[in-house]
Amino acid sequence: ETKPVLIIGAGVSGLALGNFLLREGIGCVVFERRSREYVEHRQRAGVIDTRATRAFRKRGLEDRVGDGVPTEPNLGFRVDGQPRPLGLSVEEHREGRFCPQQVLVRNLISGFRQEGGDLRFDTEVTVEDHENPRVRLGDGSIIEGDFIAGCDGSHGVTRAAVPEDRITRHTHEYGYAWLVILAEVPAHQQTLMAIHRRGFAAQFGRGPQASRFYLQCPLNDTTEDWPDERIWSELGTRFGEPITTKGAIVEKQLVPLRSEVLSPMSHGRLHLLGDAAHIVPPMSAKGMNLALYDADAFADALVHYYKNDDPGLLDAYSDTRLNDVWNYQAFATWFTNTVHDAGDPGDRGEFHHRVARADFERLYTSGTANRLLSEFVAGLA
Ligand code: APR
Repeated sequence: ETKPVLIIGAGVSGLALGNFLLREGIGCVVFERRSREYVEHRQRAGVIDTRATRAFRKRGLEDRVGDGVPTEPNLGFRVDGQPRPLGLSVEEHREGRFCPQQVLVRNLISGFRQEGGDLRFDTEVTVEDHENPRVRLGDGSIIEGDFIAGCDGSHGVTRAAVPEDRITRHTHEYGYAWLVILAEVPAHQQTLMAIHRRGFAAQFGRGPQASRFYLQCPLNDTTEDWPDERIWSELGTRFGEPITTKGAIVEKQLVPLRSEVLSPMSHGRLHLLGDAAHIVPPMSAKGMNLALYDADAFADALVHYYKNDDPGLLDAYSDTRLNDVWNYQAFATWFTNTVHDAGDPGDRGEFHHRVARADFERLYTSGTANRLLSEFVAGLA
């Protein structure tokens, strides 16, 4: 008798995996400790790249991201206050979608439920046994499964279920933070990214009436250092033009930029996906996409296991994913360092600043350099 796959967490990775498995006819249960309301309103990522879009399409689930606006052919850079749009040379890049995370999450929840999926909100679980997969619910009941999918984010219980000496955590701190602002301002274009001596700044649309703004700032700043007026004026300076439409700032948060990779990603019948296994800095726009690549690969591995009675892809899951994760971690590190150091290099100094400028300018002058960036942006590198 086949037991279900126990999916812990209903963020992007757990919900995508649930949708993929249901579509493939593989039994699963998704447990989420938060409420549906909470999960559906959590705003974070906003770009689904070409490779992740294709993972939905190949299973006939493109409607989950379907009404997303295609990503633009240019990245809207401004350098020292001047517009410097950067064209991307890889055509397939246009298959990607602007899709705010909460829109994707809502679509994945309603699609999963409509097709009869078992998704339990307000249900915090602990891992009883990860070798003979069993989880315990809040009421003390135990559920057995064939596998555990750890989709429970960077503070989750699944990574903690593995003995410490069996798992290695690789971490990197970038040395600065982003002040992340959510404001009721229509995006004036899809993206705006400012490279400036005073530090990096960006604006990304999040639906018709909301934008996220980002300001590079020192690690020890607090939100009290950033009253609304200072935010608007600093954005204006770094963008090189004043912000004319100012809307209510509904959220302010300081996020230190960091990277993390856990190795290996598989422990017997427990497999880690998404933020539970890796964190990339937001500049790369790969956090949500890596979670989707993981869900795609893990679903394929399970299909292979159940349909062909072959554990080959499952056994290879950790190594295959880690190769890819390090590839995107390398991209994320390079891109993050480049756009920050090309503006304000901080303690890293003038030498790094000049090198970062050269790295950045090459994206305009070298077709080869541009092509590599474009492939990473599309998720095809
Ligand atoms: N029991 C049940 N649910 C849990 C438990 C637990 N013990 N621990 C954590 N969770 C839930 C959290 O409440 C959360 O909803 O797991 C979910 C993990 O979701 P995310 O942190 O969003 O992680 P993930 O789905 O891997 O997201 C990957 O996608 O949208 C982006 O910004 C997001 O970078 C992130 C990426």
